[in-house]
Amino acid sequence: MNKLSAKTRKFIELSEKYGAHNYHPLPIVISKAKGVWVYDPDGNKYMDMLSSYSAINQGHLNPTVVAAVKSQLSKVSLTSRAFHNDQIGPFFKKVVKLCGMEVALPMNTGAEAVETALKLARKWGYKKKGVAAGQAEIICCANNFHGRTTTIVGFSSDEQYRDGFGPFTPGFKLIPFNDLQALRDAITENTVGFLVEPIQAEAGILMPSKGYLQGVRQICSERNVLWICDEIQTGLARTGKMFAWQHDGAAPDVIILGKALGGGIMPISLVASRWEIMDVFNPGDHGSTFGGNPLACAAGIAALDVLIKGKLSQAAAKMGAYFMRQLRALHSPHVKDVRGRGLLIGVEIKAESGKARPFCEALMEKGVLCKETHESVIRFAPPLTITKKEIDWAMDRVRQVLC
Ligand SMILES: Cc1ncc(COP(=O)(O)O)c(C=O)c1O
Repeated sequence: MNKLSAKTRKFIELSEKYGAHNYHPLPIVISKAKGVWVYDPDGNKYMDMLSSYSAINQGHLNPTVVAAVKSQLSKVSLTSRAFHNDQIGPFFKKVVKLCGMEVALPMNTGAEAVETALKLARKWGYKKKGVAAGQAEIICCANNFHGRTTTIVGFSSDEQYRDGFGPFTPGFKLIPFNDLQALRDAITENTVGFLVEPIQAEAGILMPSKGYLQGVRQICSERNVLWICDEIQTGLARTGKMFAWQHDGAAPDVIILGKALGGGIMPISLVASRWEIMDVFNPGDHGSTFGGNPLACAAGIAALDVLIKGKLSQAAAKMGAYFMRQLRALHSPHVKDVRGRGLLIGVEIKAESGKARPFCEALMEKGVLCKETHESVIRFAPPLTITKKEIDWAMDRVRQVLC
């Protein structure tokens, strides 16, 4: 911390002294941002190559989203769901049409939306599939990341996420990711849902084989199991299509969105499905005070408009392919693999080169902000508004660090 300015050191010390140590941030304080750029309190400029774990696909303080939020702030911010508001209906219509679904249920964070999908699958299992009371099973994948609630960490295969937090909710089974036979074998008459990320991002950008999601679709249809697709990190144009399942041409029964749904300005998440699934929820079965608040819905409408009108899926596909080509062309002695889709890219560091964190620290020193995931992988996930020139700027620095 010696190299830090007095101002930066003061902010970090305050945060470390009064804030729980449940994160290990890089030693930088961000006090201003615009587009792909962020600034520290001394005015130093950095490129954001993380986008708050893909929550800022539209770029920091996107003007369209800012304008929508400012305008809404002069009207009404919170109504609760005890009353209707004039933003939630238009937001629902826009998002369910985009997903190819019929109905949505809004929450705030990703983990809450995952919990909602789990409750939905269980209730559907009891009410529609005819599973005996208390017997519903949900299948998940090893190396999953779906959030941090007690139920969700209960089916994590990462020991640290579980350690000290039991006892856990029963009714979950783990199978290997990208293994259709394992899915076939794990399904029983009590299976109500299969919860999966289309790309395992937190686990180190682990890609499924081509055809995996199509296989999932087929098996779930044959066995009357809901395919629940967690698109919280991969969705909303990040991978070069609006949703990552579209790369495989197979649509899920239940989709979970979060992060970039609020344009990086308001937290908003949701679960979307067909009516024949969602209609198991009756008034009082589930809810959230802030879920569907007019401020978040106004942000959501604008955030989706920016993705659609700005053709950010196409931009992510084009810029992602360019970025990945540049990374592969490095032929770095430290790099074992470069993988990803669109602008969700993982660079895996060779075991003999040590962990990914020192490389992230060195990149930060040069002005490129990214974060290691699962010790050996550097994740590059810039805002989807990034230009070729900005990628070139970053590549100059990446080259200095990795070569
Ligand atoms: C795939 C996936 N699901 C769920 C979550 C949890 O979202 P939140 O942190 O908003 O609760 C995340 C967050 O990183 C995620 O990447």
